[in-house]
Amino acid sequence: MDLSTRLGPLSFSNPVLLASGTWGFGEGLKPHLDLSQLGGLVTKGISPEPRAGNPPPRLAETPCGLINAIGLENPGLRRFRQEILPRLKEHGVPVLVNIFGESLEEYLTVAEGLREEEIAGLEVNISCPNVEKGGLQFGQDPEAVRRLVEELVRVFPGPVVVKLSPVGPVREVAEAALSAGAAALTVANTYPALAVDLRERRPVLARGTGGLSGPAIKPLTLRLVRELHQAFSAPIIGCGGISSAEDVVEYLLCGAAAVQVGTATLLDPRAPSRILEALPPLLDSLGVQNLRELIGALRA
Ligand SMILES: Cc1cc2nc3c(=O)[nH]c(=O)nc-3n(C[C@H](O)[C@H](O)[C@H](O)COP(=O)(O)O)c2cc1C
Repeated sequence: MDLSTRLGPLSFSNPVLLASGTWGFGEGLKPHLDLSQLGGLVTKGISPEPRAGNPPPRLAETPCGLINAIGLENPGLRRFRQEILPRLKEHGVPVLVNIFGESLEEYLTVAEGLREEEIAGLEVNISCPNVEKGGLQFGQDPEAVRRLVEELVRVFPGPVVVKLSPVGPVREVAEAALSAGAAALTVANTYPALAVDLRERRPVLARGTGGLSGPAIKPLTLRLVRELHQAFSAPIIGCGGISSAEDVVEYLLCGAAAVQVGTATLLDPRAPSRILEALPPLLDSLGVQNLRELIGALRA
């Protein structure tokens, strides 16, 4: 069955990508999962300089999700380009490089550093505090996002995908990103959340709050995908709580043309290949020949 999918200038042989940050750079997954089967890979967030991230504890489990405050730990642009990206490209699938910064200049430094690389595109994480705006997240500030994306498409020749925060003026931010030239939207990042240690009377995570991911967020993010698809009919990559082929179809019906799997790979490193194996028989049972028949086809 043809599982290929297109999102504007991006095309993937199937709709299942690995989400940023939950699979490292693949080393741990390799014994369990053939990365070359996937539709694409989205790297851990890359910043200009290496970052150690937050102190532990950085992860807290909840009944149907995970709260993380990793703090965007990464090896920095130089080491990523020299050591990691060449290895990722060996898998022969499209690689989207997830980037972030704490100022417009930091984002642009990473984008400029990647302009010569053969990558499918950039995925821009805007759930980041903007030091120039007193720590207000880019993702909460449509004008900052407009400016950021305008500049990124100027310096980076390939597709620029904007990964939305699910909180804040999401529609306005999406509109700003698309009108500034974003090729697609990833919907969405994690939800701000708190886990409590009642005996210590303290947050579980050293940093206090973190971002909730996993099955708990799927219905919340499905609603966002549907709303943004109806508002803009722009290419959308759905991301949030996907752990089965059924979840993928739900996202497609709401308007996503591809999806990313994150937290599910932490529970079961084979989750993405399990999903891919289950997808053709599921589509068959739904009487569907190709993904286009499903995208945005949720009835009112
Ligand atoms: C441990 C962990 C690390 C993450 N790191 C990043 C990151 O570096 N950049 C980013 O844009 N999103 C990051 N995310 C968010 C995921 O890519 C994804 O958007 C989110 O977890 C929702 O999908 P899921 O429910 O399938 O995990 C991270 C999530 C987790 C759980």
